[in-house]
Amino acid sequence: MPTRNLALATLVALGQSIVPPVEGSSLPAQAQVIDQRAFNVLNVTQPPIEFNAKSLFVPPGHTEESLTQRPFHVYDDEFLKIIGEAPTLSRIAHSPKDPLFHEAVVWSKETEEVFFVQNAGAKNASTGLKKSAIIEKISLAEAAAVANKRDAAGLVTVTKVPSSAMVINPNGGTNYRRQIVFTGEGQGDDKPPSLWLMNPQKPYNTTVLLNNYFGRQFNSLNDVVIHPKNKDIYFTDTIYGYVQDFRPAPGLQDQIYRFNEDTGAVTVVADGFDHPNGLTFSPDGEYAYVTDTGIDSGFFGLNFTRPASIYRFDVKEDGTFENRKTFAFVNSGAPDGIHCDSWGNIYAGCGDGIQVWNPSGKLIGKIYVGSTSANFNFAGKGRMVICAETDLYYATLAAAGNYVDSEM
Ligand SMILES: *[C@@H]1O[C@H](CO)[C@@H](O)[C@H](O)[C@H]1NC(C)=O
Ligand SMILES: *[C@@H]1O[C@H](CO)[C@@H](O)[C@H](O)[C@H]1NC(C)=O
Ligand SMILES: *[C@@H]1O[C@H](CO)[C@@H](O)[C@H](O)[C@H]1NC(C)=O
Ligand SMILES: *[C@@H]1O[C@H](CO)[C@@H](O)[C@H](O)[C@H]1NC(C)=O
Repeated sequence: MPTRNLALATLVALGQSIVPPVEGSSLPAQAQVIDQRAFNVLNVTQPPIEFNAKSLFVPPGHTEESLTQRPFHVYDDEFLKIIGEAPTLSRIAHSPKDPLFHEAVVWSKETEEVFFVQNAGAKNASTGLKKSAIIEKISLAEAAAVANKRDAAGLVTVTKVPSSAMVINPNGGTNYRRQIVFTGEGQGDDKPPSLWLMNPQKPYNTTVLLNNYFGRQFNSLNDVVIHPKNKDIYFTDTIYGYVQDFRPAPGLQDQIYRFNEDTGAVTVVADGFDHPNGLTFSPDGEYAYVTDTGIDSGFFGLNFTRPASIYRFDVKEDGTFENRKTFAFVNSGAPDGIHCDSWGNIYAGCGDGIQVWNPSGKLIGKIYVGSTSANFNFAGKGRMVICAETDLYYATLAAAGNYVDSEM
């Protein structure tokens, strides 16, 4: 840690928590320490109708501007290792009314591109029932070229990916057998939610892998991940297509499924959620993390007494889940997309950007964008692409993603 000041480096070495840096200290230029002790006791607090999960919390001594100016928020010194000495955050695209930057952020190693999808069910984009959300991509070389700018909107090309046959309302995605598997939410009564495989290179041909559970339609498939050891496809099914007006009332309870393409077996690994949403595994495959966005029921509105939570399961040798425990609850919005780094820290897209926890569930930092990020992903080591609906960001940091090379 050669560039940090001695006092800070000493504290880090001692493993103690960091006090706000003194004048002239050298935290990374885009980082700042947020001292939770400064707001454990507030002079004024507001009732839930005035201050709740939709509100932006500005800790005392900060402003919205200052939070945005240095977007890497250090809540615990463990976050310094994750961001490294010179993390950067750049806005690389902006789409004022159309939420083009939503979820399914997938790194294509071969082409050095990152894929992502538009929001399905967004009123302003008229996607959902009549028009499917689209798949898009950017080149990482173009993003890297503007990493020294905070705002580079317009300088990176966002290209529409003409999947063929077109993936209908994609929402989740991950690498699988050198291609990309998407969870499609479906459309109306007769285009069922499906797992789609897409070739990440021209002609972007697709194949449907699964579109029913013994003849019954899924509700609207949300997120998908591959287990690092058994290489099976795990995915969540939840009600958002219905509460966003583009799918019929659900015919199944919301739950998590597991699919083995070779045997065709589809099994259920967990239920008992409100709205199960994002899903990921720890790098060793021993834990599964599931986000529950129960707080947000689309046209039924928000209910702040319901989950905005991450649950952790033990994954048994046979690939089944057990021992559900509450891992974290977020202050802002709900945790949606979720990914681990190669060290096993957990990142989730929330109402104010990306929040990061260590494996004990302690919040250690945030990559703050000041608005909702539904999903994001690493692109190998030191690079991250963050979707924030009408804004797309590129970040550089020290941590590496937990890439599952699921060739087999
Ligand atoms: C709370 O009130 C005290 C006394 O008026 C003041 O010194 C302090 O700065 C206030 N703290 C915050 C966080 O507003
Ligand atoms: C939709 O567009 C309206 C009018 O431009 C804008 O006020 C509103 O914030 C937009 N909603 C979203 C979710 O982008
Ligand atoms: C796309 O087409 C190629 C060439 O026929 C084939 O090898 C590949 O499996 C196809 N991919 C998908 C997802 O359909
Ligand atoms: C909010 O959710 C709780 C728990 O599910 C439920 O009891 C309550 O009726 C809900 N409130 C509203 C206003 O829907």
